[in-house]
Amino acid sequence: MRFILFLALAIEGAIKLVHATEHAKKGGQPIIIDTDLFSDVDDVGALTIANVLHNCGLANLKGIVINTPSQYGPLAASSLSTYFGNDVPIAAFRPITNDTFFDSYYYLYGEYASKLAYNWPRNIKTADSTPTPVELYRTILSSADDRSIHIISIGFLTNLADLLRSKADHISHLSGSQLISAKVSELVVMGGQYPSGWEYNFGGEDPESTAYVVQHWPKNVNVTYSGGELGGDVFSGQHLVQRCPPDSPVLSAYQWYVGRGSTVRSSWDPITTLYGILGLEWVSKIGVRPMLAYANDFGYNSITATNGSNAWVNDMTVTNQHWLRLAEGVTNYSMAGLLDEFYAHDPSLRSCFRYGVLSENFDTVL
Ligand SMILES: *[C@@H]1O[C@H](CO)[C@@H](O)[C@H](O)[C@H]1NC(C)=O
Ligand SMILES: *[C@@H]1O[C@H](CO)[C@@H](O)[C@H](O)[C@H]1NC(C)=O
Ligand SMILES: *[C@@H]1O[C@H](CO)[C@@H](O)[C@H](O)[C@H]1NC(C)=O
Ligand SMILES: *[C@@H]1O[C@H](CO)[C@@H](O)[C@H](O)[C@H]1NC(C)=O
Repeated sequence: MRFILFLALAIEGAIKLVHATEHAKKGGQPIIIDTDLFSDVDDVGALTIANVLHNCGLANLKGIVINTPSQYGPLAASSLSTYFGNDVPIAAFRPITNDTFFDSYYYLYGEYASKLAYNWPRNIKTADSTPTPVELYRTILSSADDRSIHIISIGFLTNLADLLRSKADHISHLSGSQLISAKVSELVVMGGQYPSGWEYNFGGEDPESTAYVVQHWPKNVNVTYSGGELGGDVFSGQHLVQRCPPDSPVLSAYQWYVGRGSTVRSSWDPITTLYGILGLEWVSKIGVRPMLAYANDFGYNSITATNGSNAWVNDMTVTNQHWLRLAEGVTNYSMAGLLDEFYAHDPSLRSCFRYGVLSENFDTVL
């Protein structure tokens, strides 16, 4: 009896190994997403893209860390990942609060995070059962291949500043800064305004952490910025009612947040996440021509620590930092159309896009 059990376990283990090896062969980009999932719904769009690309082998979604304190952020992230069939490690920001979103600025937008958390099943039961953001970062990084991870930051930079400042511990004998140098191949950040200006992720909550991360990020690791001006003008989420499965949490989140019968919203975080997974070379991965490009060849971002304002410094000796723009000939319409393909993706399809469908709607490079 025990032998049979052992045999069954061994076979199961072997099957898992085959799956893991297949996945590695496919070369899904390992990513960690640091999100302020709570208020704006474009974080839902971003996590949807990550889950869809994870399921078709182009991304390896290693973890989601939350940078806003409400317990509903990590729970909503769990509902969304569970909907796509993925049991993703999630870390809640501390201390945890019971905040719900109320739009006391425009009085237009609505709460969705608590509703995602309670209308769909989720693998994570409570926010306080999760590791802290620094623990999850250090755990994932310490076991990652060298120079493999892309960190995609689509909210405030508090967790990344805490990671940079973290010291050797029971998880790793390396400091946070050493771990980043060794294991991270790129930091992709939605934040700032380019070439200069003020933007909410940088200046709205924690400008000191923004300045700390930008100034102390290890120089051997590339950084790519996605500014407020890039995603702000790309309105994605058109026709989700017609296109999504009716029980889609993506559809409901966009409906609850945007309101008044619309599901259309700016695309700061989804565009950033798409770049964080695909980089600039898209043809071999999703069959469409690249829709993003670097806007600069050299220079670096500088931050005012008191208010989070940023300005690009054109220094020819620094070449590890870029900011993104739409590629030549790409319109906000075609970018929004591509994002909508992800939002409407049926979770039961583990495959990527049917390239034929995509190429009907988008210019492909033949
Ligand atoms: C959040 O609500 C729970 C359950 O009602 C309560 O036990 C907890 O103390 C609350 N947390 C805060 C920070 O108010
Ligand atoms: C960093 O960026 C440079 C310039 O774009 C590129 O040549 C290099 O391959 C990048 N390094 C990594 C590790 O991605
Ligand atoms: C494209 O940008 C224009 C100008 O801001 C805007 O009116 C239009 O709604 C945008 N369309 C999409 C699909 O993003
Ligand atoms: C931020 O502070 C800098 C330096 O004091 C100043 O030049 C800039 O105008 C400020 N930006 C905002 C939006 O207040």
